[in-house]
Amino acid sequence: MAKAMWAGRFSKEESKEVNDFNSSISFDSRMYESDITGSIAHARMLGHQGIISQADSDLIIETLTQILEDINTGKLEFDMEAEDIHMFIEAELTNRIGEVGKRLHTSRSRNDQVALDIRLHLRKTVSSIVEQINSLIDTFVNMAEANKETIMPGYTHLQRAQPITFANHLLAYAFMLKRDKERFMDALKRMNYSPLGSCALAGTTYPIDREMVAKELGFDGIVRNSLDGVSDRDFCVEIASAAALCQMHLSRFSEEIILWCSWEFKFIELDDAYSTGSSIMPQKKNPDICELVRGKTGRVYGDLVTLLTMLKGTPLAYNKDMQEDKEAIFDCLDTLSMCLTIVKPMVETMRVNKTNMRNAAAKGFINATDLADYLVKKGMAFRSAYKISGSIVAFCIENNLVLETVPLEKYQEYSELFTEDVYQYINLEECTFKRTSKGASAVKSVEEQINYLRSNK
Ligand code: ARG
Repeated sequence: MAKAMWAGRFSKEESKEVNDFNSSISFDSRMYESDITGSIAHARMLGHQGIISQADSDLIIETLTQILEDINTGKLEFDMEAEDIHMFIEAELTNRIGEVGKRLHTSRSRNDQVALDIRLHLRKTVSSIVEQINSLIDTFVNMAEANKETIMPGYTHLQRAQPITFANHLLAYAFMLKRDKERFMDALKRMNYSPLGSCALAGTTYPIDREMVAKELGFDGIVRNSLDGVSDRDFCVEIASAAALCQMHLSRFSEEIILWCSWEFKFIELDDAYSTGSSIMPQKKNPDICELVRGKTGRVYGDLVTLLTMLKGTPLAYNKDMQEDKEAIFDCLDTLSMCLTIVKPMVETMRVNKTNMRNAAAKGFINATDLADYLVKKGMAFRSAYKISGSIVAFCIENNLVLETVPLEKYQEYSELFTEDVYQYINLEECTFKRTSKGASAVKSVEEQINYLRSNK
């Protein structure tokens, strides 16, 4: 085993078990590009400030660039015996250019280095999650546009409540996703400050220029406190929390798809490519993808709790506990990204059974509120109208009728305000499309939502 870079103080080498336990390269190697980019900016600053010679700075930058290319092309493989990605890259640099390579770590610690790397890395990952969310919003909006006139039952307590359009239902998810996206973007803003130059925790005696590094790396500024710079992982928690919410939304949607695919509902049918069969029951077509999205939600929540718990007892500043941030935040974003990837085409290819949706909406006295509203429009107080409408529903249930088939004379026994136009008023299409208030199911209300979502990306 290669001697650890910090071996100077130690008289014994660490055991294999200790090295394996301590090592993070198996999961932090994915940050190699961020690590190298950060080191290049650091080396440039060291040269610029005269902390190392310009020639050494140039050679370090050139060699790091080469190392990056060699990793990208597969010429250089990670050494799984290395302690972490930072040590691996630095050792490789020193292998290639000897003493000059050893100057890179001047006025830097792995504590501020790792804090920098993870911010750089998450900035990329979160930006791509934001893209994915955007694209899923588009999917929901397009699907809504195609279903502006598709009537379905709206539910509360999973009981048929009032008629809505499928468009309005889908748009609810588009708005949830929009908030998710905004939460991620907000977290990105707060994270975008450079911790480099905090060094181990106390800053440094070298005349470094932290702003120069921050600027080169596209940060909005520097973390203003050196202890905070190395010990802050709030951004991981914020991002994991945004991910947990987003995953929860995907999970609620998945649950609805699972219900809607069942024989009991049959509102939608998933494309064969996005469902699976049973090994024993030939009739089955299972919504496994949705179940997995729902199931993986537990794991994303777990990652959030891991991060919060990891941080709660760590005194300032850096503690090795913090190495545990990576697996949690990576797993959390990997999982969410995978789910976003698969949900989009699943939604795009699912078939909507408009007839079944409409038929379900036509049952269950879904127009009982409208019957009450009818009396209100004719001058009755809502509470009284509500009571009469309820009595008529009870009468229908006893006599196996629906509101549309109650004879006019019967209606008039309940109130003389009822006239022939009641049937028109409680007609399903009427009930759905006359809900023209903002945010409702009428075509115009839905179009307003669609336009809003399209013009506020
Ligand atoms: N692999 C470590 C981490 O992920 C890097 C920082 C190590 N710093 C230290 N003082 N041991 O947090």
